[in-house]
Amino acid sequence: MEVGMKAELHCHVKLFAHRPFRPAQLQRRLNRARDMGLDVLAVTEHMDVPDFRGILQCLEELCGRGTGALEWRGLTVLAGAEVSIKEGGDVLCIGTPETVRELEKRLAPVNADNLPSFKGLLDASGDLGFLRIGAHPCRRGKELWKLGPMLKKLDALEINATELPMAGRVQERAKNLGMPVVAGSDAHHWLQIGRVYNLLPPVEKLTAVTLKQALLRGEIVWCRGKIWPVLLKGLRVSS
Ligand SMILES: [Fe+2]
Repeated sequence: MEVGMKAELHCHVKLFAHRPFRPAQLQRRLNRARDMGLDVLAVTEHMDVPDFRGILQCLEELCGRGTGALEWRGLTVLAGAEVSIKEGGDVLCIGTPETVRELEKRLAPVNADNLPSFKGLLDASGDLGFLRIGAHPCRRGKELWKLGPMLKKLDALEINATELPMAGRVQERAKNLGMPVVAGSDAHHWLQIGRVYNLLPPVEKLTAVTLKQALLRGEIVWCRGKIWPVLLKGLRVSS
């Protein structure tokens, strides 16, 4: 039996970036994460979607408790963003609504014509306490290996649920760089949440900072979820 906390660290709110955000989409994902037994959900929508600020605001309205921490019916929620970089590639920045808002302000306007360089993103986010993860580092056109030793400035590299056949390669390259790996579902559809997850020892107050500490101690292991039958059955269900 697995003992510890299960954390999903890569989850989107929208199925289609160009369609308007609806709060019900966020609620559905929060409920799904909680109902399937996850303890932690990081919401990491693309920072360059037009309604990014509205999503962040909705997250705070639904999950805020006035203490800075986010919670949804027992589920610990972390605010984050997936930030695309000019070189081609994506970085997950996981923190709090305040730090995500500050990063967005520093990088604004974030859109396809104004993406930060990798170094620019590192500089803009360095003092904000984020857990920074190199997302799907093997993805065609978004390979992160081109960034060389600078990659080590990130806290971890991601094993992405959509690219599990490349998990071994990510693990090998991460080992060579001396970096830990974490897993992320990259869920755009709510039924994709938990395809993979991270298992860590119980922490009373889980934040991006305590997650980083657990990573440094080598206490986080990634696991495959067991949701394929449900996913296949539910593919026709709306976003
Ligand atoms: Fe993603």
